[in-house]
Amino acid sequence: MGRGVSEEHMGTRSCWRVERACDMSDSEDDNIPQLSAHTLAALQEFYDEQKQQTGLCVVGEEKYNVGVIEENWQLSQFWYSPETALRLAEEAIAAAGKGGRIACVSAPSVYQKLRELRGNSISVCLLEYDRRFAIYGEEFIFYDYHHPLDLPDHLTAHSFDLVIADPPYLSSECLQKTAETIKHLTQGRVLLCTGAVMEEEAARLLGVRMCKFIPKHSWTLANEFRCYVNYDSGLDGDM
Ligand SMILES: C[S@@+](CC[C@H](N)C(=O)[O-])C[C@H]1O[C@@H](n2cnc3c(N)ncnc32)[C@H](O)[C@@H]1O
Repeated sequence: MGRGVSEEHMGTRSCWRVERACDMSDSEDDNIPQLSAHTLAALQEFYDEQKQQTGLCVVGEEKYNVGVIEENWQLSQFWYSPETALRLAEEAIAAAGKGGRIACVSAPSVYQKLRELRGNSISVCLLEYDRRFAIYGEEFIFYDYHHPLDLPDHLTAHSFDLVIADPPYLSSECLQKTAETIKHLTQGRVLLCTGAVMEEEAARLLGVRMCKFIPKHSWTLANEFRCYVNYDSGLDGDM
C-alpha cells in the first residue's frame, strides 16, 4: 500500500489510486516532474472540494471507469458488467447517429462508457438521483423519477436522438413516471433496460419490444433483466 493511504481512505479504490498518484510528487525517481507548491495546493483544494461534494477523489479519465462510483444498494444501484456497458454504449452511438444527442436516464454506466469511448466528441448527459455523479459537471442533471418533468430548461422537449433508461424499481409507478421523462426528452428512439416482468407495461407505455440481447450485471440479479427498443436495433442481431 502506498504512502499516505490512511485507514479512512482504504475503503474506496478510487481514493487509493489518487493517493498513489500523489505519491509521485515526492518519489525517489528524480526524473519525474515535480509540481510547484502552488499547483500542489490548488490540486489539493480541488480534491478536497470534490471529496466533500461527492465522497470521491478521482482524477482525469479515470472518473469515467464503469464502477468507479461504488454501488449503493439502498438506491437500487446494480452496475452493468463492462461488456454490457460497452454493448449498450455502442448501440446508443449507432442509434443516435452521427452528431446525435444521447440522454442516459438512471443509467450511469452507459454514460461513463460513452465518455470513455468517445471523449468529448459526443453529446451526452446523465440524469441521475445520486449526487455523487456530480463529478461529471454540467452533464450531470439531478433527476428524481417522482418528479418526471421537473427538469432544467435547457433539456428542451424532444431534443435527444436517443434516450436510454434503466429505472431503479420494478414497479408500475416507477416505470410510468420514468416513461413520462423518456417521452418528453426523446425525438423518437428509446432503449429501455428493465426486468422481463415489465414487458407488457413497457410495450403499452413506450411502444418498445424485448430484444434478444441479455444484459449482464457485475452481480447476478435474481430477476430476469432485459432490454427493449422501439426501433431496428443491433441488440436483436447475433449475440
Ligand atoms: C437499476 S440501477 C440502473 C443502473 C444501470 N444498470 C447502470 O449500470 O448504469 C437504477 C439507477 O437509478 C438511480 N436512482 C435511484 N433512485 C432514483 C430516483 N428516485 N430517481 C431516479 N433515479 C434513481 C440509481 O442511482 C441507479 O443509478
